[in-house]
Amino acid sequence: MHHNLTDDEAEYRQSREMPVFSPTASLLLLLAALFSAGTSSAEDASSAALRLACAGDSNTIKGYPAILQSMLGDDWTVDAYATGAATVLDGTLQPYRRSDEYRSLLASSPDVVIIMLGANDARHQYWDLNGTPAHEFKQGYLELIRELQELDSMPEILVATPPPIYPGRAAEGRWELARIRDNLTDGVIPLIREVAAEAEGATLVDVYGHMSASGGSSSLSLDGIHYNSAGYRKMCGVFEAALIAD
Ligand SMILES: *[C@@H]1O[C@H](CO)[C@@H](O)[C@H](O)[C@H]1NC(C)=O
Repeated sequence: MHHNLTDDEAEYRQSREMPVFSPTASLLLLLAALFSAGTSSAEDASSAALRLACAGDSNTIKGYPAILQSMLGDDWTVDAYATGAATVLDGTLQPYRRSDEYRSLLASSPDVVIIMLGANDARHQYWDLNGTPAHEFKQGYLELIRELQELDSMPEILVATPPPIYPGRAAEGRWELARIRDNLTDGVIPLIREVAAEAEGATLVDVYGHMSASGGSSSLSLDGIHYNSAGYRKMCGVFEAALIAD
Protein backbone atom coordinates (compact mmCIF):
# COMPACT_ATOMS: atom_id res chain seq x y z
CA MET A 1 0.00 0.00 0.00
CA HIS A 2 1.91 2.96 -1.24
CA HIS A 3 0.40 6.08 0.18
CA ASN A 4 2.03 9.40 0.39
CA LEU A 5 2.55 10.11 4.05
CA THR A 6 4.18 13.51 3.82
CA ASP A 7 2.03 15.14 6.49
CA ASP A 8 2.57 12.35 8.89
CA GLU A 9 6.26 12.26 8.21
CA ALA A 10 6.50 15.90 9.25
CA GLU A 11 4.53 15.17 12.39
CA TYR A 12 6.64 12.11 12.95
CA ARG A 13 9.94 13.96 12.63
CA GLN A 14 8.64 16.46 15.10
CA SER A 15 7.74 13.70 17.50
CA ARG A 16 11.28 12.33 17.29
CA GLU A 17 12.76 15.59 18.42
CA MET A 18 11.19 15.29 21.82
CA PRO A 19 11.90 12.36 24.07
CA VAL A 20 8.78 10.23 23.93
CA PHE A 21 9.25 9.02 27.43
CA SER A 22 12.09 7.77 29.51
CA PRO A 23 12.70 4.10 30.23
CA THR A 24 10.71 2.77 33.11
CA ALA A 25 12.33 1.54 36.27
CA SER A 26 11.52 -2.07 35.50
CA LEU A 27 13.18 -1.85 32.09
CA LEU A 28 16.32 -0.43 33.68
CA LEU A 29 16.31 -3.25 36.21
CA LEU A 30 15.92 -5.78 33.44
CA LEU A 31 18.80 -4.28 31.49
CA ALA A 32 20.98 -4.09 34.58
CA ALA A 33 20.33 -7.78 35.18
CA LEU A 34 21.05 -8.69 31.57
CA PHE A 35 24.31 -6.80 31.42
CA SER A 36 25.63 -7.79 34.81
CA ALA A 37 25.18 -11.42 33.78
CA GLY A 38 27.47 -11.36 30.77
CA THR A 39 29.70 -8.31 30.83
CA SER A 40 32.34 -6.89 33.08
CA SER A 41 32.62 -3.22 32.12
CA ALA A 42 30.46 -0.34 30.98
CA GLU A 43 32.20 -0.40 27.62
CA ASP A 44 31.25 -4.02 27.08
CA ALA A 45 27.70 -3.20 28.08
CA SER A 46 27.29 -0.55 25.40
CA SER A 47 28.67 -2.81 22.69
CA ALA A 48 26.29 -5.49 23.96
CA ALA A 49 23.17 -3.49 23.13
CA LEU A 50 20.37 -5.89 22.34
CA ARG A 51 19.53 -6.02 18.65
CA LEU A 52 15.84 -5.78 17.87
CA ALA A 53 14.84 -6.35 14.24
CA CYS A 54 11.40 -5.21 13.11
CA ALA A 55 10.00 -7.19 10.17
CA GLY A 56 6.91 -5.79 8.52
CA ASP A 57 5.18 -3.68 5.91
CA SER A 58 4.59 0.05 5.51
CA ASN A 59 3.44 0.50 9.13
CA THR A 60 6.89 -0.70 10.13
CA ILE A 61 8.75 1.40 7.56
CA LYS A 62 7.00 4.65 8.29
CA GLY A 63 6.12 4.06 11.81
CA TYR A 64 7.03 2.55 15.05
CA PRO A 65 10.70 1.37 15.08
CA ALA A 66 12.29 4.82 15.46
CA ILE A 67 9.85 5.71 18.24
CA LEU A 68 10.50 2.38 19.93
CA GLN A 69 14.23 3.08 19.71
CA SER A 70 13.79 6.38 21.53
CA MET A 71 11.63 4.70 24.17
CA LEU A 72 14.10 1.86 24.76
CA GLY A 73 17.27 3.97 24.69
CA ASP A 74 20.87 3.01 24.01
CA ASP A 75 20.66 -0.45 25.48
CA TRP A 76 18.79 -1.57 22.40
CA THR A 77 19.47 -1.17 18.72
CA VAL A 78 16.17 -1.12 16.86
CA ASP A 79 16.22 -1.59 13.08
CA ALA A 80 13.38 -1.83 10.59
CA TYR A 81 13.55 -4.47 7.87
CA ALA A 82 10.30 -3.73 6.14
CA THR A 83 8.83 -3.57 2.65
CA GLY A 84 5.71 -1.72 1.56
CA ALA A 85 2.83 -4.12 0.78
CA ALA A 86 4.78 -7.06 2.20
CA THR A 87 2.86 -10.30 2.69
CA VAL A 88 3.39 -13.60 4.45
CA LEU A 89 1.84 -15.31 1.41
CA ASP A 90 4.08 -16.23 -1.46
CA GLY A 91 3.03 -15.45 -5.04
CA THR A 92 1.93 -11.89 -4.25
CA LEU A 93 3.52 -8.70 -5.54
CA GLN A 94 5.68 -8.45 -2.42
CA PRO A 95 6.27 -11.71 -0.53
CA TYR A 96 8.26 -10.69 2.55
CA ARG A 97 10.57 -13.68 2.51
CA ARG A 98 11.76 -12.83 -1.00
CA SER A 99 12.63 -9.23 -0.13
CA ASP A 100 16.11 -7.71 0.18
CA GLU A 101 15.05 -6.37 3.58
CA TYR A 102 14.45 -9.88 4.82
CA ARG A 103 17.87 -10.96 3.57
CA SER A 104 19.37 -8.02 5.48
CA LEU A 105 17.46 -9.01 8.59
CA LEU A 106 18.81 -12.56 8.36
CA ALA A 107 22.34 -11.13 8.24
CA SER A 108 21.80 -8.79 11.21
CA SER A 109 22.28 -11.24 14.14
CA PRO A 110 19.11 -10.13 15.91
CA ASP A 111 18.45 -10.98 19.56
CA VAL A 112 14.73 -10.30 19.20
CA VAL A 113 12.56 -10.11 16.07
CA ILE A 114 9.14 -8.46 15.97
CA ILE A 115 7.08 -9.67 13.01
CA MET A 116 4.06 -7.55 12.15
CA LEU A 117 2.60 -8.78 8.87
CA GLY A 118 -0.84 -9.80 7.66
CA ALA A 119 -2.66 -6.60 6.71
CA ASN A 120 -1.58 -6.90 3.09
CA ASP A 121 -2.38 -10.61 3.00
CA ALA A 122 -5.95 -9.62 3.84
CA ARG A 123 -6.26 -7.65 0.61
CA HIS A 124 -9.10 -8.57 -1.66
CA GLN A 125 -6.90 -9.86 -4.48
CA TYR A 126 -5.05 -12.29 -2.20
CA TRP A 127 -7.45 -13.33 0.51
CA ASP A 128 -10.79 -13.18 -1.09
CA LEU A 129 -10.73 -13.56 -4.82
CA ASN A 130 -9.59 -17.15 -5.31
CA GLY A 131 -10.73 -18.65 -2.03
CA THR A 132 -9.08 -18.21 1.32
CA PRO A 133 -5.37 -19.07 1.36
CA ALA A 134 -5.56 -19.76 5.10
CA HIS A 135 -3.41 -22.88 4.96
CA GLU A 136 -0.70 -21.19 2.87
CA PHE A 137 -0.73 -18.21 5.19
CA LYS A 138 -0.30 -20.30 8.30
CA GLN A 139 2.40 -22.54 6.83
CA GLY A 140 4.25 -19.53 5.41
CA TYR A 141 4.18 -17.80 8.78
CA LEU A 142 5.41 -20.90 10.61
CA GLU A 143 8.25 -21.30 8.08
CA LEU A 144 9.23 -17.66 8.53
CA ILE A 145 9.45 -18.18 12.30
CA ARG A 146 11.42 -21.42 11.91
CA GLU A 147 13.87 -19.77 9.56
CA LEU A 148 14.47 -16.94 12.04
CA GLN A 149 14.85 -19.35 14.95
CA GLU A 150 17.56 -21.22 13.04
CA LEU A 151 19.82 -18.15 12.98
CA ASP A 152 23.03 -18.42 14.99
CA SER A 153 21.88 -15.51 17.15
CA MET A 154 18.80 -17.59 18.15
CA PRO A 155 16.43 -14.62 18.31
CA GLU A 156 13.31 -14.51 20.37
CA ILE A 157 10.31 -14.10 18.12
CA LEU A 158 7.44 -11.74 18.88
CA VAL A 159 4.45 -12.39 16.62
CA ALA A 160 2.41 -9.19 16.43
CA THR A 161 -1.14 -8.84 15.16
CA PRO A 162 -1.48 -5.81 12.86
CA PRO A 163 -3.35 -2.78 14.20
CA PRO A 164 -7.03 -2.21 13.39
CA ILE A 165 -8.11 -0.77 10.04
CA TYR A 166 -10.57 2.15 9.89
CA PRO A 167 -12.20 2.39 6.45
CA GLY A 168 -14.07 5.56 7.49
CA ARG A 169 -10.82 7.53 7.49
CA ALA A 170 -9.99 6.71 3.89
CA ALA A 171 -10.29 9.39 1.24
CA GLU A 172 -10.47 6.66 -1.39
CA GLY A 173 -10.69 2.91 -1.52
CA ARG A 174 -13.20 2.66 1.33
CA TRP A 175 -14.78 -0.41 -0.19
CA GLU A 176 -11.47 -2.20 -0.43
CA LEU A 177 -10.42 -1.13 3.06
CA ALA A 178 -13.70 -2.38 4.52
CA ARG A 179 -13.07 -5.79 2.98
CA ILE A 180 -9.47 -5.82 4.14
CA ARG A 181 -10.69 -4.96 7.63
CA ASP A 182 -13.23 -7.79 7.61
CA ASN A 183 -10.78 -10.32 6.23
CA LEU A 184 -8.07 -9.17 8.63
CA THR A 185 -10.35 -9.38 11.65
CA ASP A 186 -12.18 -12.59 10.80
CA GLY A 187 -9.52 -14.47 8.85
CA VAL A 188 -5.94 -13.34 9.22
CA ILE A 189 -5.78 -12.33 12.90
CA PRO A 190 -7.24 -15.59 14.27
CA LEU A 191 -4.64 -17.43 12.16
CA ILE A 192 -1.82 -15.25 13.54
CA ARG A 193 -3.00 -16.13 17.05
CA GLU A 194 -2.92 -19.82 16.13
CA VAL A 195 0.57 -19.47 14.67
CA ALA A 196 1.86 -17.80 17.84
CA ALA A 197 0.31 -20.53 19.98
CA GLU A 198 1.71 -23.35 17.85
CA ALA A 199 5.22 -22.05 17.17
CA GLU A 200 7.41 -23.07 20.04
CA GLY A 201 9.41 -20.17 21.43
CA ALA A 202 7.27 -17.51 19.74
CA THR A 203 5.24 -15.02 21.77
CA LEU A 204 2.06 -13.28 20.67
CA VAL A 205 1.97 -9.50 20.95
CA ASP A 206 -1.64 -8.57 20.43
CA VAL A 207 -1.31 -5.09 18.95
CA TYR A 208 -4.75 -5.43 17.37
CA GLY A 209 -6.38 -6.36 20.66
CA HIS A 210 -4.68 -3.63 22.66
CA MET A 211 -5.23 -0.92 20.11
CA SER A 212 -8.87 -1.72 19.53
CA ALA A 213 -9.70 -2.28 23.19
CA SER A 214 -7.96 0.51 25.08
CA GLY A 215 -9.46 3.57 23.49
CA GLY A 216 -9.08 2.24 19.96
CA SER A 217 -9.92 5.12 17.75
CA SER A 218 -9.74 6.11 14.12
CA SER A 219 -8.08 9.34 15.29
CA LEU A 220 -4.88 7.32 15.73
CA SER A 221 -4.99 6.42 12.06
CA LEU A 222 -3.93 8.64 9.23
CA ASP A 223 -5.75 7.15 6.28
CA GLY A 224 -7.50 4.14 7.77
CA ILE A 225 -4.52 1.82 7.57
CA HIS A 226 -1.37 3.81 8.36
CA TYR A 227 -1.02 5.33 11.80
CA ASN A 228 -0.06 8.79 12.99
CA SER A 229 2.61 9.42 15.58
CA ALA A 230 0.12 9.13 18.46
CA GLY A 231 -0.93 5.77 17.05
CA TYR A 232 2.64 4.58 16.70
CA ARG A 233 3.44 5.66 20.24
CA LYS A 234 0.51 3.61 21.47
CA MET A 235 1.75 0.67 19.43
CA CYS A 236 5.24 1.08 20.92
CA GLY A 237 3.77 0.96 24.41
CA VAL A 238 2.42 -2.49 23.55
CA PHE A 239 5.81 -3.62 22.23
CA GLU A 240 7.69 -2.16 25.16
CA ALA A 241 5.46 -4.01 27.63
CA ALA A 242 6.12 -7.25 25.74
CA LEU A 243 9.88 -6.67 25.71
CA ILE A 244 9.95 -5.91 29.42
CA ALA A 245 7.84 -8.97 30.23
CA ASP A 246 10.42 -11.19 28.52
C1 LIG B 1 -13.71 -10.98 3.17
O1 LIG B 1 -14.58 -9.94 3.58
C2 LIG B 1 -15.75 -9.83 2.75
C3 LIG B 1 -16.47 -8.57 3.17
O2 LIG B 1 -16.91 -8.64 4.50
C4 LIG B 1 -16.56 -11.08 2.86
O3 LIG B 1 -17.71 -10.98 2.04
C5 LIG B 1 -15.71 -12.25 2.42
O4 LIG B 1 -16.42 -13.45 2.60
C6 LIG B 1 -14.41 -12.30 3.22
N1 LIG B 1 -13.57 -13.31 2.62
C7 LIG B 1 -13.16 -14.36 3.28
C8 LIG B 1 -12.31 -15.28 2.50
O5 LIG B 1 -13.45 -14.59 4.43
